[in-house]
Amino acid sequence: LSSKPLTVGMIGCGTVGRGVVRLLCEHATLYQQRVGRPLDLRRVLVRPQSLQRHMEADVVDPALLTDDPDAFFAQPLDVVIEVAGGRGAVSRLVYRALEAGAHVVTANKALLASEGPELFAVARKHNVSISFEASCGGGIPCVTTLLSGLMANRVRGLYGILNGTCNYILTEMIDRGKTYEQALSEAQAHGYAEADPTMDVGGHDTSQKLALLAALAFGVRVEETRIACRGIDDIALSDVRAGLELGYDIKLLGIAEQREPDGPLSLSVEPCFIDHRALLAQVKGPFNALSVVTDGAGHVLLYGQGAGELPTASSVVSDLLNLASNMYPTQFAAMRLTPDCTQPARILEEPRQIGRYYLRFNAMDRPGTIASLTGVLGEGQISLSAVSQHEEAIDQFVPLVMLTHDTPRANVQAALDRIAELDITTGQTTLLRIVDLPC
Ligand code: NAP
Ligand code: HSE
Repeated sequence: LSSKPLTVGMIGCGTVGRGVVRLLCEHATLYQQRVGRPLDLRRVLVRPQSLQRHMEADVVDPALLTDDPDAFFAQPLDVVIEVAGGRGAVSRLVYRALEAGAHVVTANKALLASEGPELFAVARKHNVSISFEASCGGGIPCVTTLLSGLMANRVRGLYGILNGTCNYILTEMIDRGKTYEQALSEAQAHGYAEADPTMDVGGHDTSQKLALLAALAFGVRVEETRIACRGIDDIALSDVRAGLELGYDIKLLGIAEQREPDGPLSLSVEPCFIDHRALLAQVKGPFNALSVVTDGAGHVLLYGQGAGELPTASSVVSDLLNLASNMYPTQFAAMRLTPDCTQPARILEEPRQIGRYYLRFNAMDRPGTIASLTGVLGEGQISLSAVSQHEEAIDQFVPLVMLTHDTPRANVQAALDRIAELDITTGQTTLLRIVDLPC
């Protein structure tokens, strides 16, 4: 085992990068004890327009800072950490690092979800590895758990609260009565949100993470664009309250299920109602959690801070330590779970996916409305598990909530289309999935 310093370069020094520098400084001795060699941060690449700001920021030793990629790559590095985010220019820098023979540690799920197969193939060609623990679930070791801890199992389902920003917004709106805009700007101020927060609230950040995690869990290649994706930006508080009254909390969930061994995968990202007694319902604020349902270990729940400076930096530095001890490169060379080695997933298209649903109609308050609605649902083979209506008609329309038993989504959508043609409801009917989670 080498006792030489592990030479490290870092691209980007924002929220996560600052945390990495902080951990490397504060725990230098501890890390050396753990892996038998020092971690030596040699250079930090920032953008020209930000160099002066970084020079004055007192985060990184100014002597390590450069805005010139050629200077950054001038001397060989053992590892390049990429915590800049985005694609384009950053993607080119990552290819350059791999081609120069450096291992890459990245927090960038957007890059991996879009260019993973090519990047992993280039890494293998150059006998280096890409580690990406920080890309999914911030400080929670989701990737390591799927890659090694649960390797003995066949995974049946993943159910994840994978976006700290969305979970923070939902918690603040529901528990503290804040507006959506107020909660989003607080999440941004805390450093949870992506540079473009529509990636968070539109569900795409969760989708990218789900694509990476499902690939590891099921040993297939998952294209993020094939995941049915809805965000939290149009959740109505009236639905949140109606769900609470029936014993359900709302969470943005990333779901990957395989009902039969080697069967197709059902993949979705959407706001879902979950029983308020379920463990995932207790996950609040910026916290994330991943429920992994397996055949051997049963239900395994990972919980922790899914975003923010130090939690995310913890995962980046853990990857570095696994490289320093040569554990990860050996595993990377042997494993066949990255998307350059796997076949594309067989995906069950959304209309054929089976689930329970919450429906809220604005129903006309007159004789026969419920009979007409249940008639259409019955014709679609949709069975109801609960119905709720209060005496609160406005302009002759009253909110009417129905919960269904398991049914293909296509049946529900066809019934809603049929109901929209009848003169018994007004406005858009709310359709939200209900997920029965393991306790
Ligand atoms: P951030 O605060 O916006 O920091 C990114 C930094 O990278 C900025 O300082 C930016 O420079 C710099 N940068 C951008 N393009 C660059 C380039 N071409 N060359 C050099 N520097 C460049 O973002 P962050 O929150 O730290 O996130 C970084 C990555 O971690 C993203 O991929 C994100 O998805 C991921 N991640 C973040 C979290 C979190 O909680 N924040 C958690 C998990 C994963 P300027 O200062 O010039 O803008
Ligand atoms: N924007 C992401 C979130 C950061 O809010 O969870 C962690 O990947």
